[in-house]
Amino acid sequence: CGIIGRVGDGNALEPLLTGLENLEYRGYDSAGVAVQNGSGINVQKRSGKVEELKESIGEPLKGEVGIGHTRWSTHGPPTDANAHPHTDESEDVAVVHNGIIENYVELRERLAASGYEFTSDTDTEVIPHLIQYYLDAGFDSETAFRRAIDELEGSYAVTAMVTGEHVLYAARQGSPLVVGMEDGEYFLASDVPAFLEYTDSVVYLEDGDVVVVDEDGVEFTDLEGNPIVRTSETVEWDPEQAGKGEYDHFMLKEINEQPTSLAQAIEGRIDPVNGRIALSDFEPGTFDDVDSVQFVACGTSYHAALYGSLALNQAGVHSTALLANEYSVSAPPVDENTLVIAVTQSGETADTLSALKQAAAEGARTLTVTNVVGSTAARAADDTLFIRAGPEIGVAATKTFSSQAVMLTLLGQRIADDVQGEPPADLETLLPELESMPSTIDQLLEYSNAASIAEQYSESRSYFFIGRGLGFPVALEGALKFKEITYEHAEGFASGELKHGPLALVTPETPVFAIFTGQEDEKTLKNAEEAQTRGAPVVAVCPDGHPAVEVADEHLTIPDTDSDLAGLVANVQLQLVSYYAADLLGRPIDKPRNLAKSVTVE
Ligand code: G6P
Repeated sequence: CGIIGRVGDGNALEPLLTGLENLEYRGYDSAGVAVQNGSGINVQKRSGKVEELKESIGEPLKGEVGIGHTRWSTHGPPTDANAHPHTDESEDVAVVHNGIIENYVELRERLAASGYEFTSDTDTEVIPHLIQYYLDAGFDSETAFRRAIDELEGSYAVTAMVTGEHVLYAARQGSPLVVGMEDGEYFLASDVPAFLEYTDSVVYLEDGDVVVVDEDGVEFTDLEGNPIVRTSETVEWDPEQAGKGEYDHFMLKEINEQPTSLAQAIEGRIDPVNGRIALSDFEPGTFDDVDSVQFVACGTSYHAALYGSLALNQAGVHSTALLANEYSVSAPPVDENTLVIAVTQSGETADTLSALKQAAAEGARTLTVTNVVGSTAARAADDTLFIRAGPEIGVAATKTFSSQAVMLTLLGQRIADDVQGEPPADLETLLPELESMPSTIDQLLEYSNAASIAEQYSESRSYFFIGRGLGFPVALEGALKFKEITYEHAEGFASGELKHGPLALVTPETPVFAIFTGQEDEKTLKNAEEAQTRGAPVVAVCPDGHPAVEVADEHLTIPDTDSDLAGLVANVQLQLVSYYAADLLGRPIDKPRNLAKSVTVE
């Protein structure tokens, strides 16, 4: 997940290890370096911390050119073999890579059939073998690199070196890569903080760029080798701020990363064959024997689970979402036809693990939906589905929630298809909207007025969130986010429940955020009006032109989308409202008091 490369005079090891330490904030589970020395490429890599890598290197590696990587597992668990850099068999080519190579299975099969031996489970390992394949075919290193890159499908930031050369080759497609330049010393990195101690002069590469770096400078080209012009800029960040990029907090950065994290989640997975949904992680028919589904999760993941469960019910499959910490006392019965799905960002939440184990012990089939490859929950279940959101640093979950909910929507469609023997009714309209989610959210982030809404209601006493159908879990999540980071009182309700009790709390100092998803919106509007009549200001979260806009006091706009997804889009506006409200109050947004990112005790 973090890349560093360095060419220059003097030893490369120190800047490489400093770079890896600077990238630690991104989260990782393994680290490694490869340095070009007199006798070839020397690779040192292992699972664990950069500190452990440093200790294990012992005798310093000597060499002026090198690459390094912190890996955050996406294909294959965090083992020494899966750590980067990856090499060909003879260690003539070393490669570090971020992103996902979609066609790695076919590349691997082809290369293996020609005798290239693979030693890891990663998608990355096809790259050094592919470069070696072209070197073996007689091409020079630069051409071999370009040819290899040309064959990759998916997203990548790649940096490679070939034995005996003082050169780094790099390419970018859909995953960030920057060049750092100082007199006679050049860097490549996934992120500026990696080399900020050494230079503040950077060039941000664009998709399709290929660069060749040696001690004389950097050659910027397109894939075919035509020169292109890229201008350098000076970054004015202190290293502490640098990890957050242009943002004041990781939470805001992660909210803004959602177009990318969602694109990564669905990349290569939606492949409708004859109108039937093929979630490429599972063979068709995988869920034929399932007759009911139970979701278990905690916190924000529980809201994603509830979202997934309601969507599955709407698709005609019997399902419930249960709080994992309640499971031991009140789990519904299971048998081998019950699929129990643990939803957990970290894969380490003790409550969720315990529910998962109980379900398995009672004979249920299990599946984990998580962000962390190699996590305990991923290893404990019969099947796994990775949400590929990238590391989330802010304690309050944001991008992992949207990726969980989107993957559960997709999985739900797939389960419904298997269980019922035909695609769910709304699949044809849903899939294109699902594929457009990254751009829908991008659009929303451009024009969101959440900051001014947060300011307008900053003096309130309590904040209520209401929604119906798939808007209900979003109301719960909107309130949870709000209370977690502002420390103000907030509650989420099913719209129709407002009149059964909570209305007693409503005053002009309790704004009601009403989420409209296109499911019985007229009823939700009536419920919002019931609060409004009693003095509460109503903020409608809905598309422009929606009837609620006329009635509400304020409006948070969301782009028009499928009702299965509208709640997730609305949720991004609510994340922003929480963020700006907490910022106005001066709260420590990324690390709220009393909370931990992952709770490993029951
Ligand atoms: C902690 C965090 C929450 C998170 C919950 C579940 O309580 O503070 O933000 O939603 O754990 O975490 P998980 O890793 O299982 O999704």
